[in-house]
Amino acid sequence: MAFISSGYDPSSPMKNRITDIGPRKYSEFYPPFIAKNKGKWAYHEILEPGVLVHVGESGDKVYTVRCGTARLMSITLIREMCDIADKHCSGYLRFTTRSNVEFMVDSEDKLKALKSDLAARKFAGGSYKFPIGGTGAGITNIIHTQGWVHCHTPATDASGPVKAVMDEVFADFQQMRLPAPLRISLACCINMCGAVHCSDIGIVGIHRKPPMIDTDWVDQLCEIPLAVASCPTAAVRPTKIDRADGTKMNSIAIKNERCMYCGNCYTMCPALPISDKEGDGMAIMVGGKVSNRISMPKFSKVVVAYIPNEPPRWPSMTKVIKKIVEVYAANANKYERLGEWAERIGWERFFSLTGLKFTHHLIDDFRDPAYYTWRQSTQFKF
Ligand code: HEM
Ligand code: SF4
Ligand code: SF4
Repeated sequence: MAFISSGYDPSSPMKNRITDIGPRKYSEFYPPFIAKNKGKWAYHEILEPGVLVHVGESGDKVYTVRCGTARLMSITLIREMCDIADKHCSGYLRFTTRSNVEFMVDSEDKLKALKSDLAARKFAGGSYKFPIGGTGAGITNIIHTQGWVHCHTPATDASGPVKAVMDEVFADFQQMRLPAPLRISLACCINMCGAVHCSDIGIVGIHRKPPMIDTDWVDQLCEIPLAVASCPTAAVRPTKIDRADGTKMNSIAIKNERCMYCGNCYTMCPALPISDKEGDGMAIMVGGKVSNRISMPKFSKVVVAYIPNEPPRWPSMTKVIKKIVEVYAANANKYERLGEWAERIGWERFFSLTGLKFTHHLIDDFRDPAYYTWRQSTQFKF
């Protein structure tokens, strides 16, 4: 297509420049009944999986239908959501903190029409466009990252494994049979963008080989001290290497036995690529939470050190997730989050019940705080 100017003039880039205007104010987009009852809600109920009603002090009722989304979506699909909102909700909709979409209406009749419209929409391949669910003690959307769609540091994909896991646990998106909500998150590298470190189940992409060193380019592309300071185990040091022509050049050396393949040095230095088809895979973490309900917030803990990448459906990984969900569902008490359950029964019981293999990789060995994760007690179960 031929170039079409927006009116921006590249020869005077600062002319008519608008800046620091911030986001549109949220109140511009309130449905009228939300604006009217704001700050005056009396109570709410979950009517059925995916459907809530909030009742205002005035008696006004607002029905909300929550639907799963793939997070990564086309303008075409967004337009379809807008059409649905125009048809049923006077043009209003919203997205949740876990990338679900919520449509709101103010009567039961409108709710019924909205629900049946949403449930009937499918892609040509057969998947639901707007599956209703994600409320209460079930499994809602998976917080996830860029993966092989857009990032340069991933050890695994995001959208692919998330689709595979949600297909596996789909029934729990549309029901509320678990002891408590179960949050699943995925990050494609240990930068952990998102919420893997604080989720009931976290999936994290990991490497198992040290970076390669592109010696010809290290000194050209990288600020070497930055790469040295990026290493959590001090495995990176500056060095000089001899060139074929007899001259010396500055480069980097890595102590492989100190490297735990975090990939942080690659983030800082493009001459240290680390990704590897066979080496890369996923670690599974469990037991994190962010709410203060009953127990204080928890970090998730590594319980499976490595599962290979198996695109496009990651069968080994989805099997492990499903197993953890089922054992938790069968054993935990009502209101007990996965982490509270595992801590109450003891981690050795968590491993024996789930059948997960305990390997030496799971024992913390990072600096002084590792010591506090070992057991300084004779209290344990055989
Ligand atoms: C102590 C540090 C952090 C805590 C306690 C924390 C906590 C949280 C919580 C509670 C959520 C929402 C989870 C949910 O909805 O169930 C979340 C989401 C998220 N966090 Fe963090 N976070 C931290 C650090 C970070 C960092 C460093 C980044 C990025 C560099 C990050 C990026 C995100 C993203 C992208 C989401 C998903 C947001 C969404 O999809 O709506 N967080 N985090
Ligand atoms: S988790 Fe890592 S690989 Fe994934 S988007 Fe974030 S920085 Fe990129
Ligand atoms: S990958 Fe991580 S541990 Fe290994 S050298 Fe780079 S920064 Fe250090």
